[in-house]
Amino acid sequence: MSHGQVDIATRFAFASVIAREAGALMARRFRDRTSFTVGYKGHQDYLTEVDGEVETLIVSRIATAFPGDGVIGEEGGARAGAAGAPVWVIDPIDGTANFARGVPHFCTSIACVHDGRTEIGIIYDPILDELFAARRGHGATLNGEAISVSTTDDLRRARVEIGWNPKTGADRFVELLRGVNGGGAGMVRGGSGALGVAYVAAGRHDAYLEDFINPWDVLAGLALVSEAGGHVSDYLGRGGLEKGGEVLACTPALRRALVDATGVGA
Ligand code: IPD
Ligand code: CA
Ligand code: CA
Repeated sequence: MSHGQVDIATRFAFASVIAREAGALMARRFRDRTSFTVGYKGHQDYLTEVDGEVETLIVSRIATAFPGDGVIGEEGGARAGAAGAPVWVIDPIDGTANFARGVPHFCTSIACVHDGRTEIGIIYDPILDELFAARRGHGATLNGEAISVSTTDDLRRARVEIGWNPKTGADRFVELLRGVNGGGAGMVRGGSGALGVAYVAAGRHDAYLEDFINPWDVLAGLALVSEAGGHVSDYLGRGGLEKGGEVLACTPALRRALVDATGVGA
C-alpha cells in the first residue's frame, strides 16, 4: 500500500471484532437488569449508563488502533481526526428504548466514512448473535453468508418498517402510515432503526423509511442495503452526516411506489 492510502480492509476486520466485543458487553448488562438505571435525554428518548459505557469502549479501541481517525458517537464521543482521515460514526446501542424495557431487539452500529462515502457498515445484534457486515464494493453478509434485498415488486405484498422519533410528530407519522398502508403494505416499527435497515439488506423487510434519522442510526445500514442490491436515498449527499435527514432504503422495484406514497426519498 502506498504512503497516505487508507487501509479499509484492516478497518473492516477491526470493526467486526469491536462490534462483537461491544455486543458482548451490552448483552451482559441487558441480562442483569439491576445493573443499570434508565433515564431520559428528552421526550421518549431513553438513556442508560450502558449506552455511554459501550461508546467509551468502542471509541477507545478506535483511538488505539487508528489514532488519526475521526469519531462521531451518539453519546458525545467525538474526536477530530487528521485531515482527510476516515471518520467512524457510531451508535453504541440502537434501540435503547427496547434495551431499557427488556425487549431483546437492539444492536450496535458502526460505520466508517471516507472521502464522502461510507466504506464500512457493521451492525451487530448480540441477542441473536447476528453480525451484518458490508464493505463498499465487496457485498453484504450476515454471519459471513452473502445477503441480498428481496425481490418484492408490489406494495400489496410488501412489509415496510416506518421509523418514528420525537421529531417526527404525530401528524407526519400518521401521514406516512396512511401512505404506506393505503398502498396495501404491511407495517412494523421495531424500535431499532439500524436493525430495521439491516433487515432490508437481508430481505426480511422490503423497505425502511423515516422522515428524520441521525447518521449514527443509519449509515451502517445504508451501506448494507447498497451492497445487498437495494436502493437507498442520497443521505450523505443531502448533508445527512452533518445534520441528519430523511431516509428511504428499499428493494429497487418498490422505490417509485414508496416515494409517491410518502414523499420520503423523492
Ligand atoms: C432510535 C431508534 C429508533 C429510530 C430513531 C432512533 P436510539 O435510536 O433507532 O428506532 O426510529 O430515529 O433515534 O435512540 O434507540 O439509539
Ligand atoms: Ca440510534
Ligand atoms: Ca443510541
